[in-house]
Amino acid sequence: MNEHLLSMHDLNADDVVRVLDTAGSFREVGSRVIKKVPALRGRTVVNFFLENSTRTRISFELAAKRLSADVINFSAGGSSVAKGESLKDTALTLQAMGADAIVVRHSSSGSPLQLTRWVDAHVLNAGDGTHEHPTQALLDLYTMREKLGRLEGLRVAIVGDVLHSRVARSDIHALTTLGCAEVRVVGPKTLVPGDMAQMGVRVCNSLEEGIRGCDVVIMLRLQNERMSGALLPSTQEYFKSYGLTPERLELAKPDAIVMHPGPINRGVEIDSAVVDGKQSVI
Ligand code: CP
Repeated sequence: MNEHLLSMHDLNADDVVRVLDTAGSFREVGSRVIKKVPALRGRTVVNFFLENSTRTRISFELAAKRLSADVINFSAGGSSVAKGESLKDTALTLQAMGADAIVVRHSSSGSPLQLTRWVDAHVLNAGDGTHEHPTQALLDLYTMREKLGRLEGLRVAIVGDVLHSRVARSDIHALTTLGCAEVRVVGPKTLVPGDMAQMGVRVCNSLEEGIRGCDVVIMLRLQNERMSGALLPSTQEYFKSYGLTPERLELAKPDAIVMHPGPINRGVEIDSAVVDGKQSVI
């Protein structure tokens, strides 16, 4: 396996299965009274988050602590980044402090790769711009395999703002590599990038067509912070055409699961009744 994790392209199918199996065995640690193993004792992990996060930052912190690493959490607010320090100079400071691994989230695509050119530490991409979010894809695969018992042969719909979604790019590569029967991307033409067909997926501009017969429906948030023009008439109009409601979910398989990387915007891309419903594994 590579020394960094920048993209799902860094992992072949065997690597992914090894990570999922290891995660499965590590899960038991979370049920112990003392939730710790010594695997990273003496190592320093820096969570270097220059863009907002709840799930990813806390997950990395919890994982590193349970592996007995020393953990440093770093965000732009309150640091010298707010005084204009460059990414390179901040990275060199982390390097000088002896970071063994740097988990980075950044609004610019390619920042984690750039970081690998400046530091000796292992770099893990926790989401870069609209490029990739590989550990979210690993979590999504883990969830599908756990809930449905397999990855091979699944029909998966990824619905919403695919254009700005790093999760969609990582999920598509992961799912096609792991042998899913079909991956569909679903959304209005303005929110589906033109290169999707080359990625081996089926593009559907109708939600009904896109989720019909699917085993998994992954809903995506509208990333208003990354939208530069008027890509949608309004969020109300969007919900009318692309919001996942209980009635629409009936078009998927009866035992289909609903996923969402979060944060969720209830009533925008997904109805609250679906979020809180029995098919949700969010
Ligand atoms: N799924 C995800 O990346 O969520 P956060 O932005 O809260 O980390």
